[in-house]
Amino acid sequence: MSHYNREPIIKIEGLHFYYNPQSERPVHALRGVDLEIYPGEYVAIVGHNGSGKSTLAKHINALLRPSAGDVWVKGMNTRNPAHRLAIRSTVGMVFQNPDNQLVATVVEQDVAFGPENLGVAEDELRARVEWALGVVDMLDYRHRPPHRLSAGQKQRVAIAGAIAMKPEVLVLDEATSMLDPEGRESVLAAVRRLNAEGTTIVAITHAMHEAAQAHRVVVMEAGRIVMEGPPRCIFARVAELRALQLDVPQVMELSYWLNQRDPTFPSDLLFVQELADEVERRVNSRGQL
Ligand SMILES: Nc1ncnc2c1ncn2[C@@H]1O[C@H](COP(=O)(O)OP(=O)(O)OP(=O)(O)O)[C@@H](O)[C@H]1O
Ligand SMILES: [Mg+2]
Repeated sequence: MSHYNREPIIKIEGLHFYYNPQSERPVHALRGVDLEIYPGEYVAIVGHNGSGKSTLAKHINALLRPSAGDVWVKGMNTRNPAHRLAIRSTVGMVFQNPDNQLVATVVEQDVAFGPENLGVAEDELRARVEWALGVVDMLDYRHRPPHRLSAGQKQRVAIAGAIAMKPEVLVLDEATSMLDPEGRESVLAAVRRLNAEGTTIVAITHAMHEAAQAHRVVVMEAGRIVMEGPPRCIFARVAELRALQLDVPQVMELSYWLNQRDPTFPSDLLFVQELADEVERRVNSRGQL
């Protein structure tokens, strides 16, 4: 990818992190993580419970500081308290539970809250709120109370609140996990739109079909990165992923299963449309699958 020639926007080097370092039983949550994320990338982070995904995410916007190693955001070291505000306005975060992220009684006030605190002037503020609500397709709800919205709508308002601060990087920590399929798809569509407009995305997820839409998938296990690459390459390693107790997107699983029975069938199809096209092509040319 062309952005590999550019400077990384996030650079993580030799990162270790201990929870409760002074206690009798410190938790060694990150055990030597190296990762570079480039402007405009969409990176998915997967890994089973407790593998260190959220701990890593919290280092990206300086909510946590390394026990060893370094994290740089646009060249700013997260260890330096003087950079904290600049880092927090560069990296926006959206968490799992939309109810814990909404603060105001009206949607547009909620979205205005972050940029207002950054000192954004009135005219610019109004423009940003409108833009952010438009990106997540929630403009029609601007005067509504957030508590009356569906979970998916609330999460889109939370994303609008984060992007109204114009972060260059948006980190989503299981932001779709509490949503129904429709809510998930609406949030994913908003994330794709933002990424297409240039926002760097880091999305933590347990849903492999969501990770499939990223440019790059990072797999974590016990505080380390154990696999990294384009989704099609990562998810083709079905046996290794199963050994890590991770799923494979269902379409990939079917593609893999068909390939085991007929090696002429491709083993690395990721999306429903690809699989449908392949089946149609084979039926048309051979009269059978
Ligand atoms: N506040 C904390 N205090 C002590 N240990 C913690 C704390 N938060 C997380 N841990 C531990 O650190 C390790 C990594 O946790 P983390 O939350 O980063 O994992 P995760 O990959 O995000 O998991 P999940 O998929 O369940 O969200 C786990 O062993 C966890 O129990
Ligand atoms: Mg987590």
